Amino acid sequence: MSTPGKDQYKIIDHAYDVVIVGAGGAGLRATLGMSAAGLSTACITKVFPTRSHTVAAQGGMSASLGNMGPDSWQWHMYDTVKGSDWLGDQDAIEYMCREAVPAVIELEHFGVPFSRTEEGKIYQRSFGGMTTHFGEGRAERTCAAADRTGHAILHTLYQQSLKHKAEFFIEYFAIDLIMDDGVCRGVLAWDLATGELHRFRAHMVVLATGGCGRAYFSATSAHTCTGDGSAMVLRAGLPLQDMEFVQFHPTGIYGAGVLITEGVRGEGGYLTNSEGERFMERYAPNAKDLASRDVVSRSMTIEINEGRGVGPGKDHIYLHLEHLGAGIIEERLPGIAESARIFAGVDVTKEPIPVLPTVHYNMGGIPTNYRGEVVTLMDDDPDCVVPGLMAIGEAACVSVHGANRLGSNSLLDIVVFGRAAGLRAAELIKPGTPHKPLPESSVEHILARFDKTRNASGATPTARIRDNMQRTMQKHAAVFRTGESMQEGVDRMTEVFNSFADVGVSDRGLVWNTDLVETLELENLLIQAQVIIQGALNRTESRGGHAREDYPDRDDENWMKHTLAWIDRKGEVKFDYRPVHMYTLSDECEVIPPKKRVY
Ligand code: FUM
Repeated sequence: MSTPGKDQYKIIDHAYDVVIVGAGGAGLRATLGMSAAGLSTACITKVFPTRSHTVAAQGGMSASLGNMGPDSWQWHMYDTVKGSDWLGDQDAIEYMCREAVPAVIELEHFGVPFSRTEEGKIYQRSFGGMTTHFGEGRAERTCAAADRTGHAILHTLYQQSLKHKAEFFIEYFAIDLIMDDGVCRGVLAWDLATGELHRFRAHMVVLATGGCGRAYFSATSAHTCTGDGSAMVLRAGLPLQDMEFVQFHPTGIYGAGVLITEGVRGEGGYLTNSEGERFMERYAPNAKDLASRDVVSRSMTIEINEGRGVGPGKDHIYLHLEHLGAGIIEERLPGIAESARIFAGVDVTKEPIPVLPTVHYNMGGIPTNYRGEVVTLMDDDPDCVVPGLMAIGEAACVSVHGANRLGSNSLLDIVVFGRAAGLRAAELIKPGTPHKPLPESSVEHILARFDKTRNASGATPTARIRDNMQRTMQKHAAVFRTGESMQEGVDRMTEVFNSFADVGVSDRGLVWNTDLVETLELENLLIQAQVIIQGALNRTESRGGHAREDYPDRDDENWMKHTLAWIDRKGEVKFDYRPVHMYTLSDECEVIPPKKRVY
């Protein structure tokens, strides 16, 4: 195939100080910070900003404000390190938990309409794994705007970004990073409305492109969650970190996968099996229904596997909130009442919601330091910064969540590290610094891949390959994993990956070609699915969200390390490792050593 050049595609050039890819909470917080710092800032997004997946975040954002009782950032840090099953980087966790309090206050001042206590303070609810006094009591730490917290934050951050004159390129699909001798120099994007291609040059490209939940069949993630930025990083020859750790949220609506917030259990909701038993009391006598998500999801799966599931197929669990009363539900959980009615036909004031653990979050992602800079393993340096490239939010692996994320630490992560990226970019870049010329060939290989996919004339529809991938991942990289099942999954995923060579795209146009968008997204998902399942087979221990029946114990001696995974064009994955940061930024918190699991 001849390499298509500039002549075959109209390319429009832009130059900015910084370009952010993605307009969810992380992308918008970085956009706001960078534009407010005087940097010329472009934000490229494949959906309208307020339709980004952050809009679906329900329960809230953790911060030790102490509005409802005693709290401290050190307790929050302890919970987060423990919740991560000791795989989280403690310097980054300290940074996040300390910055949580000013970050929430700042959001309040920006205009986020948080729910209020009687005294007018920001309302906070309990979430799984959040404790006081280093595991002794239950913390009420999750700041909520009813059950639409992500929605409230997203709209506020978009308004603030517009105020600071950030420029938005909306419904632009980012195709690939423009790399030049190991340095990121920009990004090539496709304007879906006009069909034109745009080359953005920038001193810093910030990937805020979210996770790849749609590699699975049943996910709380939007259909747009295809991990586009992470796939771009893999294609640039850089690694992803800890992708084997995929979080299953305990309460996705059975059949639909739609999220029912953990805030329901924070407000007093509980789970029962077919015997009407509140079974979490057996698995986690202290935390019960508010144990961390990995524990609750595994317990529910055991109940179902042992024949105590509910419904005709005995294949799900009930979540009760009838006892909370219509008043509390209307005030604090209006959104989930609506979701349960629409997607499960259930009136939550009268009946339980049928739920099932559902893929919710990628703990892994693009490795970064706590300032948002992308890092890689170079020679002997495990923290080598990739110049010109940052990643934040679910796309990134900072790693504050380690092997398992605590609920409500995600909205926190996106705001704190979106802000940190802005601060770091303002330190590194002088506004208006001229750009070096790009080599003529800088986008040729990107155009070649785009053109090949656009003109793909195989016999297999995109939807069939996607379905095969999603079902394989759902079955073989599930809540519980065994070497045998995962090996079968790796073999099957390799077939699915190879079947992409026979994909057929029927629309050859460039204007609103959703067929091509979905195929490019599938290409992105396929490489991440390979990294997830091969990484899971490679890690021979159980830790956090990675529960192996054949290796049931955490193995700190051999596996207290971050996995780095690279993939080649044939789908072959190679692994190496980075050490976990067991050190903190200050002496105001103690380094927390791994302990035996106690829930
Ligand atoms: O359950 C929830 O509201 C989800 C929150 C989160 O994933 O942090």
